[in-house]
Amino acid sequence: VTHVPGEARLAAARDLDGMLRCDPLAARGDRERADFIRQALARGECQVHVADGVVRGFMIVRPAHFFGRDFIDLLVVDPAARRRGIGRLLLRHGLATAGTSQVFTSTNVSNQPMRSLLRAEGWFFSGELHGLDEGDPELVFYQSRRP
Ligand SMILES: CC(C)(COP(=O)(O)OP(=O)(O)OC[C@H]1O[C@@H](n2cnc3c(N)ncnc32)[C@H](O)[C@@H]1OP(=O)(O)O)[C@@H](O)C(=O)NCCC(=O)NCCS
Repeated sequence: VTHVPGEARLAAARDLDGMLRCDPLAARGDRERADFIRQALARGECQVHVADGVVRGFMIVRPAHFFGRDFIDLLVVDPAARRRGIGRLLLRHGLATAGTSQVFTSTNVSNQPMRSLLRAEGWFFSGELHGLDEGDPELVFYQSRRP
């Protein structure tokens, strides 16, 4: 990532509003989604990207959640700040700060931006899960921790 202004760091309680604003679902008033993010924040499982004091993106990493490996549950960049390298930066930050030597994540087949990002970052395909979203399988990927 050449020049992305701002920094990625562990999210604090004060970041909640900014995180909810970044996420189109939560911003639209999806209570379940907002609760999901709030609970992850309370567990200390969120990383944020902040530029000029504004949260532009965040990531939820669940420690040892997936067969004993850290699992990225959610990676979201503010729609107004996409394609500037923030997603890539958060992903690398997650790898650098992982508590396990491998990190896993997953995305729907239909999610081209996330699949492109994972491909661009050299993540490895692990497998395909059926039965979660009807007609839109879940693709699992992994990468090794890189300091
Ligand atoms: C997926 C997501 C996090 C990517 O964030 P981002 O900050 O826009 O991604 P980056 O700018 O770091 O992209 C890095 C590379 O990934 C690829 N990429 C990212 N978005 C892409 C898109 N929409 N189309 C094609 N390639 C894309 C490109 O190779 C890109 O490099 P480039 O811009 O130099 O071509 C963002 O689209 C998002 O928040 N999506 C909604 C939430 C979601 O579905 N998250 C994933 C499931 S948890």
